[in-house]
Amino acid sequence: MSDKKTFPPIEEFVQRANYKSSTENPDHLSFWEKEAQRLHWFKKWDKVLDGKVPFVRWFTGGKLNVSYNCIDRHLVSWKKNKAALIFEGEPGDERVMTYQDLYREVCKFANVLKDLNVKKGDIVTIYMPVIPEAIVAMLACTRIGAVHSVVFGGFAPHALAERVNDSKSKILVTADGYWRRGQVIRTKDNVDKALEDCPTVENVIVAKRVSNQIKMTRGRDHWYSELMDFQMGDCEPEQMDSEDTLFIKYTSGATGKPKGIVHTTGGYLTCASSTHYNVFDIKDEDVYWCAGDIEWITGHSYTVYGPLSNGSTVVIYEGAPDFPEKDRVWSIIEKYRVNIFYTSPTAIRMFMKWGDRWIANKDINSLRLLGSVGETLNPEVGEWYYKNVGKSRCPVVDTWWQTETGCIMISPLPGTTPVKFGSVGFPLPGIEADIVDDEGNSVPNGRNGYLVINDPWPAMARNVYKDTQKYIDTYWSVFENKFYTGDGAFKDEDGYFWISGRVDDVINVGGYRLGSAELESAVLTHPSVAEAAAIGMNDDVGGSAICIFVTLIEGSNPHEDLEKRISDLVVDEIGKFARPERIYFTKNLPKTRGGKIMRRLLRDVAEGRELGDTTTLLDVTVIDDLTSSGVRM
Ligand code: PRX
Repeated sequence: MSDKKTFPPIEEFVQRANYKSSTENPDHLSFWEKEAQRLHWFKKWDKVLDGKVPFVRWFTGGKLNVSYNCIDRHLVSWKKNKAALIFEGEPGDERVMTYQDLYREVCKFANVLKDLNVKKGDIVTIYMPVIPEAIVAMLACTRIGAVHSVVFGGFAPHALAERVNDSKSKILVTADGYWRRGQVIRTKDNVDKALEDCPTVENVIVAKRVSNQIKMTRGRDHWYSELMDFQMGDCEPEQMDSEDTLFIKYTSGATGKPKGIVHTTGGYLTCASSTHYNVFDIKDEDVYWCAGDIEWITGHSYTVYGPLSNGSTVVIYEGAPDFPEKDRVWSIIEKYRVNIFYTSPTAIRMFMKWGDRWIANKDINSLRLLGSVGETLNPEVGEWYYKNVGKSRCPVVDTWWQTETGCIMISPLPGTTPVKFGSVGFPLPGIEADIVDDEGNSVPNGRNGYLVINDPWPAMARNVYKDTQKYIDTYWSVFENKFYTGDGAFKDEDGYFWISGRVDDVINVGGYRLGSAELESAVLTHPSVAEAAAIGMNDDVGGSAICIFVTLIEGSNPHEDLEKRISDLVVDEIGKFARPERIYFTKNLPKTRGGKIMRRLLRDVAEGRELGDTTTLLDVTVIDDLTSSGVRM
């Protein structure tokens, strides 16, 4: 465990977060009611919380509009001419949009959607690179009450089609392509391929980013700029009910295909706005950069909705962090005088590997607060981040949360929580987290258990799109009345929370969340594969890599070409970011008597450890297969 580090207390911040009073006297309803008052409501709610978990309703009867909260209300102050978005393209081009500019662009695009017959409640799929048009499209949906489903621009056509078909989207917003390491990535080609299998899509809007030659299908495909030309720069915001769906976000679960996590309007925005303001200690003059993709829930909450609702200046960057050189991130921080930087441990580990010399000659002294999200920021990496990026003076907030929680749940508060690197600190005000054993009883400090959330909070997922049973089974059936996170954790002697990782079959790789089932079904499409088991393999500095164990059908033998073909299948079905680090061929997979694959043992093999408890194994001879003939090609 690393040393405690105390940062100078920020009194004003402590008071604003009401931290002390809400932990000593956890009256969560009045806490969240106060936070909801930070937003503009067309009509105030009748009741703060209604119903019982898993089916709760927050701020019932309240009416608001998310784009109004993120844009319009800033226009009546000096913020009207403040930069809302600072976009840096990979080739070095830049674009600044003030709140006034953003208003005009969002209203026009909202009118475009209306003209294409998009109505309140319709689902709009957004498959775009990190360019301002992606944010404009999201906000335009919220303006007219359409529901967006933002799909990661790095997904392969099959994965895009799967998500479009589940949501039955009639409209898709995309771009011709984008820049990545100096090359054009042909986004629209992926769309064309995906749409061969998406019968519901009637209209495709294409933003021009790289001006490459692309195919435009007459009647279906429209250029963003041409549609915008004819539109008015005003659009009345739809008065949405607090519980109306704001967006769905597909994420991988332990089983089956990705789930569409449903987030609603009032509760989600209350939490995204409040946690952004408080955890990042936001000041009006800050330049803020959350370096993840907009598609990630982190991008939704902490690039778009949290920061814009707080009137912040947000940096977005299109390209790779090592293009043209490995100092690109520090150059961007230097250029725009970024004050707050939020990224993932995967990125930090990469910066660490590249070495301090890329930072040394950059002036990044504008930084005053650093954040991390997505995986454990293990002590060694946290210390490096603090010393080399934060120059030993910027607080580091390691924030724990999930797609399902909608907002940060457990995190140090800068200036109030002495940081222990590797720990995520304490639950935020208004959040009641606990660690429990198999029976759902709290475990004493120092003991490992399952991380659960006891009380409902406004940004909690309300459902799985079109699959309420899955919502109940996944999150609310493991322990009665407690939200099951799927993470293991423990509290230390001081009550600090430490996350030990997923206890289900979800693999976190480089910030992307993949279900082992998704990877396995991609591998199983190969005719020589009989069975497959995917696991996340940890490396020394806390990163995770995909590792797949494969058994072949009778008569097939492992060979290098086959390994490559299996690996390519994963890339074709899911995307490049999912390429397995290792493929093991083995005669058998270790299974329990109930037939469940014992992934824990596979993890031991992959990480080169002695095998753990094998008593529940159906066939012990499998061990020999795994350890001797389970060779990596
Ligand atoms: O395992 C936890 C890990 O990421 C999972 C959630 O993934 P996703 O829904 O993609 O959202 C990521 C961005 C919020 C969690 O179940 N995780 C997230 N933050 C942390 C973390 N693990 C350790 N420390 C964190 N700070």
